[in-house]
Amino acid sequence: MSKKYYITTPIYYPSDKLHIGHTYCTVATDALARYRRLQGYDVMFLTGTDEHGQKIEDKAKEAGVTPKEFVDRIVTGERGVLDLWKLMNISNDRFIRTTDDYHVSAIQKIFKKMYDNGDIYKGTYKGKYCKPCESFWTESQLVDGKCPDCGREVQDAEEEAYFFRLSKYADKVQDLLENTDFLQPRSRVNEMVNNFIKPGLEDLCVSRTSFTWGIPVDFDPGHVVYVWVDALSNYITALGYMNDRYHDYEKYWPCDVHIVGKEIVRFHSIIWPAMLMSLGEPLPKHVFGHGWLLLDGGKMSKSKGNVVDPYILAEHFGVDALRFFLMRTFPFGSDGNFSNELLIQTINTDLANDLGNLLSRTTAMVQKYFGGTLPEGCRECAAPTAADGELKEQASTLRARYEAAMDAFAPHKALEEVFQVIQRANKYIDECAPWALAKDMEQNGARLAHVLYNLLEATRICGILLTPFMPESMEKLFAQIGAPAEAQTWESAGSWGILSGTAPVTKGENLFPRVDVEKALEELEEAAQAAKKAELPALETEPLLEEPVDFDTFCKNDLRVVKVKDCQKVKKSNKLLKFTLDDGTGTDRQILSGIAMWYQPEELIGKTLVAIVNLPPRKMMGQESQGMLLSAVHKEQGEERLNLVMLDDKIPAGAKLC
Ligand code: ME8
Ligand code: MG
Repeated sequence: MSKKYYITTPIYYPSDKLHIGHTYCTVATDALARYRRLQGYDVMFLTGTDEHGQKIEDKAKEAGVTPKEFVDRIVTGERGVLDLWKLMNISNDRFIRTTDDYHVSAIQKIFKKMYDNGDIYKGTYKGKYCKPCESFWTESQLVDGKCPDCGREVQDAEEEAYFFRLSKYADKVQDLLENTDFLQPRSRVNEMVNNFIKPGLEDLCVSRTSFTWGIPVDFDPGHVVYVWVDALSNYITALGYMNDRYHDYEKYWPCDVHIVGKEIVRFHSIIWPAMLMSLGEPLPKHVFGHGWLLLDGGKMSKSKGNVVDPYILAEHFGVDALRFFLMRTFPFGSDGNFSNELLIQTINTDLANDLGNLLSRTTAMVQKYFGGTLPEGCRECAAPTAADGELKEQASTLRARYEAAMDAFAPHKALEEVFQVIQRANKYIDECAPWALAKDMEQNGARLAHVLYNLLEATRICGILLTPFMPESMEKLFAQIGAPAEAQTWESAGSWGILSGTAPVTKGENLFPRVDVEKALEELEEAAQAAKKAELPALETEPLLEEPVDFDTFCKNDLRVVKVKDCQKVKKSNKLLKFTLDDGTGTDRQILSGIAMWYQPEELIGKTLVAIVNLPPRKMMGQESQGMLLSAVHKEQGEERLNLVMLDDKIPAGAKLC
């Protein structure tokens, strides 16, 4: 029986399209899942979407669709969540949506079970609520009166609600955190204990009555299950806990690791174990809290408008290059600053230079000097050099160092180990100078074949260990170096001398072309602009006002036809135009209007416009304005457009509009 490994990502909120930060989390989990499969584990890798809650209800309303229609668009629609994971080559075994029927009914049973055993009770919720984060906070948790996660305003909230007796489990959870390796990295333990448990763990509000987009509490209509009980339970309902859709709970639970971002470590390391204790179920073995990808030092979020589109990057640089960059560059437990420059630099240094060169030089030389197939006996060497020994030693022990790093949830370290060997191999080429050996094939042919064999072997071992990060490219690499399936296994990565050496080697396509920095940055900027434009509605007008105005009030507006006698720019203002108007009274009327952005003064002279003439006069830039010209306003691709209302020139000045 093979060993089981159950690994999860958080389930994502489909309130907006996913960005590179979400992609980071999922790619990391995917690399860890692929690593375990490579090792021979029977892996269950779960991801999904967390589709309930007030934020989604609000957004759907804004968009004029039902909440389900809204989330469907983002989850299953074009360039939605499913498309993104397919593009990024995510190998999840299962995908859960919290709106799936089996999950909904399982949540109702879970809630009831905790209610029946006395861990859920009814009370009144008073507190602060951060809508964008869907988080409740106590006064003491706020930072400067604002949400400690996102820094935004919080609202007072009070309503009848069900509570989960989290306080009852405080000691047990503290023990779990402090005395086991449950929560990783270790540095997150103090944060949890000091900030949340020691100040006194309060019971948790687990139902709401103020919105309806959630799973109804079936024994108390009007209440919906508050989103964290719904969301966290996905990890067990997706295996079949309290439902018949799946039957893998016995097989895969407890989970080996929940990979989560640092802002939701609290939920996964305090609330989730307490819930499981209440349900009498085993606890997950580990929770790992990774850091954030930052942009200009701040967290990426759609509402701040500083998101990076993974589609653009993957389409531009290739999926594997992007996957690799995310895992190679940022220490997994810490925050990291994303930039396009850093991405390009990593591609050029590690992939084009180091790995790309090793592969292309090695395969090119096997081609050039041996027609693509090394001679029999290339594995052995009568007089191995110190460099041979060093390369062989470093490459054949690489797997152990890599494994230690991966097991410690440090993929960045595992990759660092691989690249040390790649760099060693490139140095080996320079040390052995195959081109010099090739000058006298009779004398040095056997030595040359052995040198190239060593390079193929080192490349093979690195290729295997890079597979979880760059699955497609490594398949191509194996084809180029002539490595059959049995030379691509985890077992074979721990041994030297696996390749026969006599299988044909081909110099195929360049797997990692060098990126022209200037050109790429320019193209990315253009792609980002185009994507932004495409997202904006082409034409946008203000919604109609719902509040009625009574007829008499409307008639108090004295709207008159006016003719433009003169129009000039106002000195020192780039907004204002000054109009001299004939309003039919015989006395000129002066109106200032902030429309210089849209009109040249000359083009307006002689036009027939509409003015409201009974507004009290106002001073602007030291000049009096006696009324206001009517204009029509809308947006095109997000930019404001303005058109003066112009009438047929045969309508006389002074005519009243009614
Ligand atoms: O939190 N850098 O969903 P979510 C790194 N539905 N990781 C980031 C990131 C960034 N810039 N931005 C987001 C939720 N993430 C809940 C989870 S689990 C039972 C419920 C990560 O869509 C974030 O840290 O807001 C989190 O782990 C994941 O993306 C999903 O975030
Ligand atoms: Mg979140």
